[in-house]
Amino acid sequence: MFSQEELDKAISTVDIIGDLAVIKIPREWEERRFEIGEALLSSLKGVRGVFRQTTPADDEYKVRGLEWLAGERDTLTLYREHGCCFKVDISNVYFSPRLSFERLRIARLTKKGEVLVNMFAGVGTFSIVSVVKGLAEKVYSIDKNPAAFKFMMENVVLNRVSGKVFPILGDSKDVAPELEGVADRVLMPLPALALDYLPYAVSCLRDGGWIHVYLHQKGRRRDVVRSGVESLKKALKDRILSAGGRVVRSVGRETYQIVVDVELAPSHSPSLEISRGLRYD
Ligand SMILES: C[S@@+](CC[C@H](N)C(=O)[O-])C[C@H]1O[C@@H](n2cnc3c(N)ncnc32)[C@H](O)[C@@H]1O
Repeated sequence: MFSQEELDKAISTVDIIGDLAVIKIPREWEERRFEIGEALLSSLKGVRGVFRQTTPADDEYKVRGLEWLAGERDTLTLYREHGCCFKVDISNVYFSPRLSFERLRIARLTKKGEVLVNMFAGVGTFSIVSVVKGLAEKVYSIDKNPAAFKFMMENVVLNRVSGKVFPILGDSKDVAPELEGVADRVLMPLPALALDYLPYAVSCLRDGGWIHVYLHQKGRRRDVVRSGVESLKKALKDRILSAGGRVVRSVGRETYQIVVDVELAPSHSPSLEISRGLRYD
């Protein structure tokens, strides 16, 4: 049996996704992981399965490695936030409840009639919340993971946003030419590709507009937003009308996920920049 104090030491993080718990266990407690899973299962109401994260979410589809610890082994669940529900299988798609505030923040920035492009949409969370809680009229919602695309299609139906959120399966750099000049706002919730894919995001904008760029930034908490904004200003040069940001969460020692909201001026000729393979640096 574990006391609450021991359990607090043995579990470094807990994510509750629907009725599943995903935990991280410090190395020195790993041997007792199944007991820890059982103890957590009996202490959390409404949780039917406990899993341990074994690898970070850094493969192509950003899926974290999982090991079953206690309760049911089924990894399919229904997660609710902001009046929306999302069907996810935590074993084959990316999902993080830690971005919940950020999804609502983006939704609240949308203006009536806006068209959005979400370049890294996962199971459709940002896209669907932007329509349900925001004022977005249409969201082109791209992901290249076939499993995420399948859940996104289901989540569009579950949340009754058919005709507003359009799931697209593919690499957003290949899809971007078809969406050239359609968007008022582009979401880039994938730090690993954000800077490389920036020209494609710019190409999707109709007549200037907003790009929300998520980055991983090393440094002191009080400095990371400023340095992120600077790197975006450098990349986009005189196109920027305004730029600001916030720390989304800590993702490691002295490393933060930040978001930079960039407003771009109307004039650009994106197809030229992409066809010549130019980057804004
Ligand atoms: C960090 S997740 C973000 C998911 C979603 N925005 C959310 O918050 O739930 C990044 C997503 O981008 C997808 N992805 C990775 N590379 C991609 C690419 N080149 N084009 C489109 N999607 C990509 C992954 O499959 C993954 O679902």
